[in-house]
Amino acid sequence: MENQLKVNVAVVGATGAVGQQMIQLLEKRNFPIGQLKLLASKRSAGKKVLFKGQEVTIEEATPDSFIGVDFALFSAGGAISKELAPHAVRHGAVVIDNTSAYRMDPEVPLVVPEVNMDAARKHKGIIANPNCSTIQMVAALKPLYDRFGIDRIIVSTYQAVSGAGAQAIDELLTQTRDVLDGKEPEANVLPVSKLPVHHQIAFNAIPQIDVFTDNGFTYEEMKMVNETKKILGDDQVLVAATCVRIPVVKGHSESVYVELKNDYELEEVKSLLAHAPGIVLVDSPEEQKYPLATDSADKLEVFVGRVRRDLTHPRGIHMWVVSDNLLKGAAWNTVQIAEELIKANS
Ligand SMILES: NC(=O)c1ccc[n+]([C@@H]2O[C@H](COP(=O)([O-])OP(=O)(O)OC[C@H]3O[C@@H](n4cnc5c(N)ncnc54)[C@H](OP(=O)(O)O)[C@@H]3O)[C@@H](O)[C@H]2O)c1
Repeated sequence: MENQLKVNVAVVGATGAVGQQMIQLLEKRNFPIGQLKLLASKRSAGKKVLFKGQEVTIEEATPDSFIGVDFALFSAGGAISKELAPHAVRHGAVVIDNTSAYRMDPEVPLVVPEVNMDAARKHKGIIANPNCSTIQMVAALKPLYDRFGIDRIIVSTYQAVSGAGAQAIDELLTQTRDVLDGKEPEANVLPVSKLPVHHQIAFNAIPQIDVFTDNGFTYEEMKMVNETKKILGDDQVLVAATCVRIPVVKGHSESVYVELKNDYELEEVKSLLAHAPGIVLVDSPEEQKYPLATDSADKLEVFVGRVRRDLTHPRGIHMWVVSDNLLKGAAWNTVQIAEELIKANS
């Protein structure tokens, strides 16, 4: 993107798990940056970050931080987005927001570029980035949705601790060391830091991500339901999710069961997936090849494998979908939206 007009970018939450990945991506992809502003809380103001060999000083995010900014990439929690995104828009920036603050706002497009980039082009200042577990699932299902239609999705997730931020990564690593050293592990962050009860994640699986809603599902599970409908633009598609945190640092894995509207041939399904944008089909069970969280780490794509016909429903398919939650699930999807908008305007 080197010959393009330069744009000024602000990263809000620049010291966080997602924010750091955004900064690395902007550098690696040679994003056409004029000025880069790195914003975080007062606690981080004054810290230095290296970007393309130059030191950039972290500043406290305030309503006036966005003067002269073209793209404001928010990843500092929903409350900060609610407070500061309107100021960024007022100063003329396009906000791409990673939090859940605006995802279900009917005025705000919820975008996965491989699925509904057209929606992004109709934005009114704010574009929302979906939840990480939703992004990789809809990216994998989009080619099947377009070809056969989808009646129903049942998904179980195996989600990495980095999805809960930098503190959760520390907690997994510390607990793992403590258990191996024969010490009692201390839990303060997972499943939800603001709740009074915490569970050990090392050598464990926690069937709770985010708080519970009244229907017995968690917010994370309901995000998968509601966001999938919004991104596909289809209220009729039925979705049920069970979201589980596992002791993996990076890379969410999902067991996705989908019932198509129309009959399918398995070979065509595999071929559609193999040729879909942003998808890599890794599906050779005879060679024990299937997507793994460790292989997906630091990659931009969504990896799909174990694609197989259901034994009980004639239009049912199972698949295993894996992606780096901090990249396609967050930072890359955000930067990708910005890149696509720039391409469309150049
Ligand atoms: N992790 C994921 O996979 C993922 C995926 C999609 C979306 N998200 C969403 O992205 C957001 C950040 O997630 P994360 O995992 O990067 O969290 P994180 O590692 O805990 O980082 C939080 C960031 O927010 C900043 N922040 C906190 N309070 C602030 C304030 N008052 N003003 C300005 N900045 C403030 C922090 O700055 P300090 O260092 O100064 O405190 C830090 O940079 C969350 O809303 C999360 O739901 C995360």
